Amino acid sequence: MKDKSLISITDFSKEEYIQILDIAADFENNPNQKLLLDHVVATLFFEPSTRTRLSFETAANRLGARVVGFSDTGSTSVQKGESLKDTIIMVSGYADIIVMRHPREGAARWASEVSSVPVINAGDGANQHPTQCLLDMYTIRQTQGKLENLNIAFVGDLKYGRTVHSLVQAMCNFNATFHLVSPQELKLPSSSKMYIKEANLEYFQYTELADVIPFADIIYMTRIQKERFHDPIEYEKVKNSYVLDRGMLTNCKPNMKILHPLPRINEISIDVDDTPQAYYFKQAENGVYVRQALLAAIAGVK
Ligand code: CP
Repeated sequence: MKDKSLISITDFSKEEYIQILDIAADFENNPNQKLLLDHVVATLFFEPSTRTRLSFETAANRLGARVVGFSDTGSTSVQKGESLKDTIIMVSGYADIIVMRHPREGAARWASEVSSVPVINAGDGANQHPTQCLLDMYTIRQTQGKLENLNIAFVGDLKYGRTVHSLVQAMCNFNATFHLVSPQELKLPSSSKMYIKEANLEYFQYTELADVIPFADIIYMTRIQKERFHDPIEYEKVKNSYVLDRGMLTNCKPNMKILHPLPRINEISIDVDDTPQAYYFKQAENGVYVRQALLAAIAGVK
């Protein structure tokens, strides 16, 4: 993985996923390994973020790297009209690894093509969020003891949810069965369903969340992605489609866990937070270990 960019989760092989998860487990046991003292990591966030940016920066700091970058283009020369290409060429002269989030699908791929250093996609529009996917896989393995043969329910905005698109593709390597719960308007795109079909796996579509609770090993809740809707009226129609509350968990499997990439709006009631099924805050913490593993692997020190 040395010097490799990560733009789509399919850029890495199944073996590479496992390697990253194993390295991440080592970092969870021993987070303060100063392996990147001579490295500069640039975090370029053209779109808002809490977890992804802060966990990448925490990961870089725990590794001893220095961090440069921005969390808001308002203070950058993007405001003067500087192109993405020029920004990336310039930053690749400053930093050893670029972590980038951008609202446009394909922007991260474009950045990797013009950059002289590896680029990590921290989310590009509704397309991909591969590092979230790696931490989701890490969390699934941590909670279930394995990645293979699981019933995974994806709930909410399956059309615009980039974390869903990446995780569906990755879990096609592990014989998952996919249970897709969404409003009609927000179904999983056919490009993602193609991956499932090509892997000879099954998916089932639902409109009711209650239908999947009894047999799911993982319930992956997602936010309706307001910022991706062109028409606010369409968002209003679907915004409260699913709200998971404590009372709905009475018939779930004993080891079922609820994940969510966060932020949540109202799709998981706060009365779920102290149930044994709630695992989304630990999932977010795992992002630091997984991103440490990724930075170390790309830098060639793990
Ligand atoms: N999960 C995730 O991408 O969260 P942020 O948007 O806060 O980075």
